[in-house]
Amino acid sequence: MTAGLVRGDGVFPPAAYERDDESPDDRFYTVPRKVVHIDDGAIGALGRLYAEMLPARGRLLDLMSSWRSHVPSGHAATIVGLGLNAEEMADNPQLASHVVHDLNRDPRLPFDDASFDGAMCAVSIQYVLHPAHAFREVRRVLRTAAPFVVSFSNRCFPTKAVAVWLGTTDVQHVALVRTYFEATGGWTDIRAEDRSPGGGDPLYAVWARAAPLPS
Ligand SMILES: C[S@@+](CC[C@H](N)C(=O)[O-])C[C@H]1O[C@@H](n2cnc3c(N)ncnc32)[C@H](O)[C@@H]1O
Repeated sequence: MTAGLVRGDGVFPPAAYERDDESPDDRFYTVPRKVVHIDDGAIGALGRLYAEMLPARGRLLDLMSSWRSHVPSGHAATIVGLGLNAEEMADNPQLASHVVHDLNRDPRLPFDDASFDGAMCAVSIQYVLHPAHAFREVRRVLRTAAPFVVSFSNRCFPTKAVAVWLGTTDVQHVALVRTYFEATGGWTDIRAEDRSPGGGDPLYAVWARAAPLPS
């Protein structure tokens, strides 16, 4: 763990970021899980949102990545994955490269400033212990005006989800993720939408664009 890190980053109460399973995250993710965490309807809805929001070319960061990135086929962007299981990411046909990195141990991203044209984090934000650090880091690695799309449904691995997520509703999750963008600063055009296709898994998304850096 990076020295000086406090859960919730001083922005949110540390107790809200306790979890049932406090063992190191890489232990939980040692075994590859080549499954999808939302149904086909929700995956389709996420792909449509990505088609709207993500630039068709350039370099995208798939934060908390696994064996599928849900970016519609035909998207010509180069996608870099960051997650905990190398085997899952090696089997992701959309990733050009990947890095194993534990965001909860060290929220600093191993990428240069302004080196991505967009970023996404699908169905995983509930596992993040240092959301303000993580969102500041995503802002740092994005170019100005690049989007960051955070999506989630109503399921999770409960032992690894933070207490504030388990204790709140879907609507409150949307408000929480919006607060992550607002509390960290550096974002503009913050939007939150229920993109649920109906009849199956819900899909919620909160996204924003990297604001111009102060000169
Ligand atoms: C529910 S899966 C979602 C995977 C993928 N985004 C998707 O849409 O299918 C959660 C992913 O988050 C990653 N993850 C969990 N904790 C992490 C951490 N502390 N640091 C980096 N990645 C983490 C794991 O590697 C895992 O693949």
